[in-house]
Amino acid sequence: MPSSLPDPTTLAYGVATAAYQIEGGVAEDGRGPSIWDTFAARPGAIKDGLDGSVACDSYHRYEEDLDLVAASGVELYRFSIAWPRIVPEGVGRVEERGLDYYDRLVDATLSRGLTPTATLYHWDLPQALEDRDGWLNRDTAEAFADYASVVHDRLGDRVAVWATHNEPWCAAYLGYAAGVHAPGRREGGAGHRAAHHLLLAHGLAAARLHEAGATDVGIVLNLAPFWPEDPDDAALVAATDGIDAIRNRVWLGPLVDGSYDDGLLAVAPELADPDLVRDGDLALVRGSADWLGVNYYTPFRTAAAGSAERHPEAEAYPGSAPVAFVVREPRTDIGWEVDASGLEQLLVDTHRRTGLPVLVTENGAAYPDRTLDDQDRIAYLSDHIDATVRAREAGADVRAYIVWTLLDNFEWAEGYTKTFGIVHVDPRDQTRTPKASFAWLAGHLADSSAGSAD
Ligand code: FCB
Repeated sequence: MPSSLPDPTTLAYGVATAAYQIEGGVAEDGRGPSIWDTFAARPGAIKDGLDGSVACDSYHRYEEDLDLVAASGVELYRFSIAWPRIVPEGVGRVEERGLDYYDRLVDATLSRGLTPTATLYHWDLPQALEDRDGWLNRDTAEAFADYASVVHDRLGDRVAVWATHNEPWCAAYLGYAAGVHAPGRREGGAGHRAAHHLLLAHGLAAARLHEAGATDVGIVLNLAPFWPEDPDDAALVAATDGIDAIRNRVWLGPLVDGSYDDGLLAVAPELADPDLVRDGDLALVRGSADWLGVNYYTPFRTAAAGSAERHPEAEAYPGSAPVAFVVREPRTDIGWEVDASGLEQLLVDTHRRTGLPVLVTENGAAYPDRTLDDQDRIAYLSDHIDATVRAREAGADVRAYIVWTLLDNFEWAEGYTKTFGIVHVDPRDQTRTPKASFAWLAGHLADSSAGSAD
């Protein structure tokens, strides 16, 4: 039996990566194009004009990368599988060479004593499906379930911990409403339609995996705390509630209650459309997750519209009343406020709301890294690990803390301009050099037993 979800007695540690951000090899072994290949080719879409075609070349260097993961002392390796490598046209023909790659990756993970945690969708939709309207087409959800089955059939004997989606909020709202992520569509309420199909895809895939015997199927959400600057401002509190609905409750409502709540439907009337939300859809999603992944980077402070800078992603909350986002210091290089108390609050609230085991599936920080002595990243990680431990002490069933990320990589619309890695990658020759944060993590884990620590 493959290693399952970490048990609750200690906090397990891991590092995370995502296929399009590190693999490169986009034309290799029959991989089909993904929406990120297409989007990145669009002038102006990516800050430095680059793409994931080479990235960290991890498609060829995964052994070296897994040596690094093992040397960091963690026990979990969270990676994602590229759908376009497995089903290049999105439906139909399965590419065995793509499956072979992940087969080797999983074996190489296990041979180093690491536990693999696989995410099935980290945003790289086959372009062929986007050509048929992508996540706005209900058929994409069915196609995802078929793909998930194919992958589980091959790897399920060695991988126990599965996540369907990574941050479906980004896929839906950054992709189809704000247009700042692939496929780059700015169609407002289409974001809600995409969100429903992503949830349906999760539900269908989770059902397939459960039927095949999987017991640890989760979903990874970038839930976020929203803090109104003036809690006595009723209009602000109401507007913030609408934002919270689109970021958080759109996922948690179906997963926990099997419904979209009234506050959400008020800002997202699309989700009341019976042609979109068909009988049985939400019942399928309810109870479908065995665990929940939480990716946390920053809290969001809201203020009356016009009173402060508007968040660049404001279009990603279609239908909500406008609010301003206030970003206090200190901030990381990507402009995200640093406040570890947001993670503690989020973990406690999420466990209370869902009753599920929670994993911090991503947490980390972008800093300019002019030297390899990244003390600011060490401070960030240390404070957020402490926050995770406090959430556990407060009764939240948090099983793991997984660092984002192993390698400096293709950071989506930011290209290679923002570095989150605990390992520096030289883009000229792909040399990997661990930063001080890597040694710090290894030291932190060595101080505790066998990769688990509190
Ligand atoms: C998350 C993504 C991950 C990475 C980090 C910085 O939203 O899941 O791929 O880009 O942000």
